[in-house]
Amino acid sequence: MHLGRTTLSKFLIQQLEGIEGSRDLGALLVDVAAAVKTISSMAAKGALGGLLGKAGTENVQGEQQVKLDVASNDVILKSCDWGGLVAGMASEELDDPYPIPAEYPRGRFLLVFDPLDGSSNADVNVSVGTIFSILRHDRKEAPKVEDFLQKGIEQVAAGYAIYGPSTMLVVTVGKGTHGFTLDREVGNFILTHPNLRIPEDTSEFAINTSNARFWEVPVHRYVTECQDGKSGERGRDFNMRWIASMVAEVHRILVRGGVFMYPRDTRDPEKPGRLRLMYEASPISFLVEQAGGAASTGRQRLMELLPHQLHQRVPVILGSKNEVERIVRYHWEHDKGIDRRYSSPLFNERSLFRPSAT
Ligand code: AHG
Ligand code: MN
Ligand code: MN
Repeated sequence: MHLGRTTLSKFLIQQLEGIEGSRDLGALLVDVAAAVKTISSMAAKGALGGLLGKAGTENVQGEQQVKLDVASNDVILKSCDWGGLVAGMASEELDDPYPIPAEYPRGRFLLVFDPLDGSSNADVNVSVGTIFSILRHDRKEAPKVEDFLQKGIEQVAAGYAIYGPSTMLVVTVGKGTHGFTLDREVGNFILTHPNLRIPEDTSEFAINTSNARFWEVPVHRYVTECQDGKSGERGRDFNMRWIASMVAEVHRILVRGGVFMYPRDTRDPEKPGRLRLMYEASPISFLVEQAGGAASTGRQRLMELLPHQLHQRVPVILGSKNEVERIVRYHWEHDKGIDRRYSSPLFNERSLFRPSAT
């Protein structure tokens, strides 16, 4: 009855043709998919699985870990460390890269991941996800931290899983962005969303407005114009969403368009953004670009940023191309001092007067 459906494995055999190391890359993606199925089943058990609540530990970024963060991290490590496919792994939940145990062979890829994205949502039964990025490591020696610090454009594959009403895996190997839905009865990921395309225009934006007092002027300008709706600069009404799971926001954008922002802010001068470059911004940017969208810091294409630290944070603005380009232009105009409406000294970052709709 399911004849003719495209499973993830079948899709990968076709899609990876012509890519160097395709067999190993395909096998690694299948290992990642196996981990994702396990995490999906753990997350779906909710309170019955005994994995809700805080783990009582902190990660390297000083964030409280929840039990599902730690469990998901272990599942991915154990799913991918034994098969001779990866040379090393790095995770949001590990201070340093995970070395492959001596008893296992080392492979030619590096796997970098956020095991559970949006983990503050786990306890309240809202969608969470897993984000991953695959890079090359063509040397025999075990990788050092520096070997992981590659630009987004160097990625050979990237993807995320979303654990929502259905579990989906969305991947790219640089040939479009494709979505698979987990058929729980059969245990297979089935291609359901081939060639996702993000509409170039949108009237939906996502940003955590509780941080508005810390935003830069160009972000204020954009959000104010959206809020002004029909009667303002944009001449149409906008809608807003904030789920606090980047995977869920990005999934919505891949399906129906939109713009997502976690921009640079002035909360903590040590942190130029909230999201992490290597296992959040980079892989998501790859997926978004492959679906015809754009991804920027506001001043630079995210995929071209050279990381200088494993857990480095970056400003993130991504989604529908024309909107992202508009926000990038607002940054540029601001930096050049030519954003007429907001160039008054009353409205600079240090002013008592914040830019508003008036
Ligand atoms: P993580 O749970 O992996 O730390 O990531 C959470 C991220 C991202 O998914 C989301 O967009 C953002 O943090 C939410 O942050 P706020 O709670 O500041 O809105
Ligand atoms: Mn995350
Ligand atoms: Mn996480």
